[in-house]
Amino acid sequence: MTKERWRLLVAVAATLAVVAPLAWLWQASRMPGEYSVMEMGYVDHGGGPVSAGGGEGGQEGHHGGPTSVADLVDDPDRDADVEVELVAEAAEITLASGREVEGYTLNDVSPGPMIRVREGQLLEVQLRNESVEGGVTLHWHGVDVPNAEDGVAGVTQDAVGIGEEHTYRWVADAAGTYWYHSHQISHEQVIRGLLGPLVVEPRKPEAGVVDVPALAHTYAGGRTINGDDGDVPVTVEAGSRVRVRVINTDNGPVRTWASAPYTVAAVDARDLNEPTPVADRWLTVTAGGRADLMLDVPEDGSALRVQVGAATALVIGPEGAEAPPVPEPDDGLDLLSYGSPADLGFDPDEADRDFEYSIGRRPGFVQGKPGLWWTINGHMWPNVPMFMVAEGDVVRMTIDNHSGDVHPMHLHGHHAVVLSRDGEEATGSPIWFDSLDVQDGESYEVAFVADNPGVWMDHCHNLQHAVDGLVAHLMYEGVSTPYRIGGDAANHPE
Ligand code: C2O
Ligand code: CU
Repeated sequence: MTKERWRLLVAVAATLAVVAPLAWLWQASRMPGEYSVMEMGYVDHGGGPVSAGGGEGGQEGHHGGPTSVADLVDDPDRDADVEVELVAEAAEITLASGREVEGYTLNDVSPGPMIRVREGQLLEVQLRNESVEGGVTLHWHGVDVPNAEDGVAGVTQDAVGIGEEHTYRWVADAAGTYWYHSHQISHEQVIRGLLGPLVVEPRKPEAGVVDVPALAHTYAGGRTINGDDGDVPVTVEAGSRVRVRVINTDNGPVRTWASAPYTVAAVDARDLNEPTPVADRWLTVTAGGRADLMLDVPEDGSALRVQVGAATALVIGPEGAEAPPVPEPDDGLDLLSYGSPADLGFDPDEADRDFEYSIGRRPGFVQGKPGLWWTINGHMWPNVPMFMVAEGDVVRMTIDNHSGDVHPMHLHGHHAVVLSRDGEEATGSPIWFDSLDVQDGESYEVAFVADNPGVWMDHCHNLQHAVDGLVAHLMYEGVSTPYRIGGDAANHPE
């Protein structure tokens, strides 16, 4: 063989040595045009029992059960107490300031209409898609609905195409602050306004308290509260007690603080135990999360100012009342030691499953695209874990983040409680969350009871991160979903 031929051969071999693994990684990063979430990734039993048919790390239809998610509903024979119709449209949104942005509306507005129900009532929402190209769904963020009502395209239903309808029915069993949003192409549809506030009022109404919703959303780069920007006036009588329901519908955390002491009455629609007044501290509201603040409007006719981020605030008081700006406090409130402990109703030390949800980042391919992508337990999407549980299990999960960015982690269908952060035990009120801000370098231990069968997303609520692969699922033994990602219905939940 001549020298030239040798050189050529060596060059070809060297190129192949580089390209072949890349080609393999590229190929492995792609999913077919249609698939079931039950077929993706690998099964993680969290050290718990492996049921029949649920093979370890299997690829073939690995753990489907006889119960379809479509059958996991609330009493179909019961009449609705509250009926709401929501019509989704692609439209120009006019913000209260007069500014116009391209987006999506529900019943001609964005944020969509406030939905209010009372604890124990059955809500029935009829969703109609008038003109949203990609199809829509509605997810009831923070409500532990039966699985069929969860609104995740390709997991619990098909996306609702133009001219189509879908009905959601569920019983509101926990009072608190929630929101709803599309879970189809959500990284695009939520940013562009396909969302709205939802409040479940307690069975016994709170006497003498004025309810003030404060839904924060950033439209085309500008933060708004209830669709309005800048200082948003709220008219109440001098001396009123108010419950400000801060709802963060953005992709990142928002800080809130006020001109008067506030008490954090609830986080993610769960009351805190014996909360105390807070002064000179901001509170972080996780992306997707909610916080209910109790405050008193001054007696002297001036207004109370509640900042939601630096640029927007509620100015609450008598007509025309003013409140001077309040600089952001130097420190934040640490919920880990806020309020007092209370019984959890279960023992996290008797866990049946112990999962890890460790978030990193490294170069590779997702859906054939090269980039610096998120990893879960070292694996990149689609090779993500399927966390398997059985109904009744006590589940522990360690969520740690070494990815260089903050991740608001959101488990559907359940509230989990914080046990510790970076090894430091939670000593305050139990924090029952559905959306948890996990900052870079942090590690949280959380626990919950698997009491709501289904197939549930467990993902980052920075929805850009979700579409970039920071998505896993929690799945109950004996349950399976007939819905598929992609396919004819073009389901794309993220
Ligand atoms: Cu607010 Cu998976 O969603
Ligand atoms: Cu994230």
